[in-house]
Amino acid sequence: MRAATTILSRGAEATIEQLTIFGKECIKKTRIKKSYRHPSLDEKLRKERMSHEAKMLHAVKELGVRAPLLYAIDHHEMAIYMEYLDAPRLKHVLQSKTKGKLREELCVELGKQIATLHAHDIVHGDLTTSNVLVDKLKTKKPELVFIDFGLASITSKLEDKAVDLVNLKKTFSATHSELPRGWELIVQGYLSNSGKEAVLKQLKEVEARIRYA
Ligand SMILES: Nc1ncnc2c1ncn2[C@@H]1O[C@H](COP(=O)(O)OP(=O)(O)O)[C@@H](O)[C@H]1O
Ligand SMILES: [Mg+2]
Repeated sequence: MRAATTILSRGAEATIEQLTIFGKECIKKTRIKKSYRHPSLDEKLRKERMSHEAKMLHAVKELGVRAPLLYAIDHHEMAIYMEYLDAPRLKHVLQSKTKGKLREELCVELGKQIATLHAHDIVHGDLTTSNVLVDKLKTKKPELVFIDFGLASITSKLEDKAVDLVNLKKTFSATHSELPRGWELIVQGYLSNSGKEAVLKQLKEVEARIRYA
């Protein structure tokens, strides 16, 4: 039985719908067709990215880093079905004025969780505060949930991990000027939880390269 569907977001790569199947709320993420690509190449790419995201969601779960549970893959529609989280984006929580101490704690926690991903050679590929949700916000122990693993990869290279952080740093300072210490706290969390100094050193090199490019 399938009930009403609500479209939550239409991005460049995917449509996100919220729907109820057998009484369970889920998210359906469908890879959008690109008419500028040859149809068979388009199908191949959409299929690859969809399967890849499903694989990464599974891999992350094994590490104890939260990501939505994967429910099903629809190879015909190029869609994955996953757990729906009634949780705001980290971006909104950090931008809300009311949660002073919590906001700082979430930055530290974000750094810690990224360090766990990196320690297991998982690079998210699109780290922004819109791709992290805050579950259980009203409780004493809110939990970060990472989403949007379409660009994630498995790599042991320092450079890849550094670029993951550079991307976050860039969007973070642009979106969260209200939290000037935010980045520092993320780094503090990263280093406190097996994050490597070498990655941060590489981050500086990547930034210098960007600056002089
Ligand atoms: N499992 C989920 N539960 C609740 N909301 C979600 C879930 N997955 C995605 N969303 C919402 O949809 C938005 C877009 O999803 P995302 O996977 O980041 O796709 P895109 O590639 O378009 O950025 C997210 O920022 C979030 O608000
Ligand atoms: Mg996203």
